[in-house]
Amino acid sequence: MTDLDNLVDPDRGWTNPRIYTDPELYERELEHVFGRSWLFLAHDSQLPKPGSFIQTYMAEDPVLVVRQRDGSVKAFLNQCRHRGMRICRSDAGTSKNFTCTYHGWSYDLEGNLVNVPLEERAYHHRIDKSKWGALKVPRIANHKGFYFGTWSEETPEFEEYLGDMAWFFDACVDRFDGGLELAPGTTKWVIDCNWKFAAEQFASDMYHAPVSHASAQLALIDDPDAYDPFLDPELPGRQFAGNGHGSGGFFFPFVTEPPSNEYRMDTHEWLQSREEEIVRRLGEERVLKVHNHNTIFPNFSWLTDSSLQIMRVWHPRGPNSIEVWAWAYRPKDAPPSVKAEMKRYSERTFGPAGAFETDDGENWTEVQKVLRGFKARQNRFHTGMGLGFEERDAEGYPGLSNDVYAETAARGFYRRWHDLVTGKSWAQIQEADRASEASRSLADKV
Ligand code: FES
Ligand code: FE
Repeated sequence: MTDLDNLVDPDRGWTNPRIYTDPELYERELEHVFGRSWLFLAHDSQLPKPGSFIQTYMAEDPVLVVRQRDGSVKAFLNQCRHRGMRICRSDAGTSKNFTCTYHGWSYDLEGNLVNVPLEERAYHHRIDKSKWGALKVPRIANHKGFYFGTWSEETPEFEEYLGDMAWFFDACVDRFDGGLELAPGTTKWVIDCNWKFAAEQFASDMYHAPVSHASAQLALIDDPDAYDPFLDPELPGRQFAGNGHGSGGFFFPFVTEPPSNEYRMDTHEWLQSREEEIVRRLGEERVLKVHNHNTIFPNFSWLTDSSLQIMRVWHPRGPNSIEVWAWAYRPKDAPPSVKAEMKRYSERTFGPAGAFETDDGENWTEVQKVLRGFKARQNRFHTGMGLGFEERDAEGYPGLSNDVYAETAARGFYRRWHDLVTGKSWAQIQEADRASEASRSLADKV
């Protein structure tokens, strides 16, 4: 029986290293965290026509996400009900149905079993095919072309689950009249670390940037002598925390600020030509507060600025490993040179061999290696930065926020993780959220 005591304490600011290594806790995560959260499945641009499909994962479970004949999107477990083979083995494509490569059972676009080879001779017509379809993902939400799915009937509706994080998500995905597209193809790589290190860091951690990324910054700017690894101490920045999600970064006018190097001049010029459109859609204040680090709980993250545009899912692969699946995204109606530049810049910085990406992966891998030690798992980790300095609705932000150098979003991430992994129902979680909201507004009044 897994010990669920003393795992994290977001009120005092610590985590127990066991949460990154314990195999039994990991099994609970698969069931209670990933099984009861909204998980990113696909974007509209990956499913252009009826029959278009992609294969992805909801945590460790393989799923097929398929555009239906009526234009809707459905998803089902990519597991044949005969002996459990993967029904479809292609990463992506277009199909009229899916035939298992083991014995040939066939499923339609919704995952219903429609054909069984030798049905008369082998089954004597005694198999009820309507009862042996693939397991369907019961709930799918479409947020501005981004599809999320959950196995759980009790999870709140997606928009409620997203809450104030929509303000930041939309600042990224709703920036252009013509919408976004994911560049074709998925870049995949493995990092030997627990999924929470990556998801939590992307939820707001800018504290690592001046140290971890110092050499990459130097390599990418045109005037290395002007580089200050600890940045301007007064540089404004903020982080947001809500419902386990997080967003953090420094403020910068991403439309008008000239790039720090020559690799993104086309993008810069094109963005300037679209300034009116972007400001109209986001509002002047939000344009300045587009954050580069973001996570929608539990494992969907993105980075954004002018030309750095990359999204990824941290698929867990046991307690000690993740598969990163990443996509460059870009405005659908941008000219080819700008699209190419955005993709190239995103890969150069945060592709699997990207100058910055390798810094992050190196840290997470090393931490995970250290955690093999017995003693290394006995002492708590500190997550108390900025504790007690949170503010509500401050500086034009929705909800709870803090200075950019804080761990408010990390604590929020671990609080939601803890709620779920310990088996609290969503009704209990929402009730507790409402109670803490009420006590906060009472404290504001007093
Ligand atoms: Fe799929 Fe046998 S496992 S048809
Ligand atoms: Fe980083």
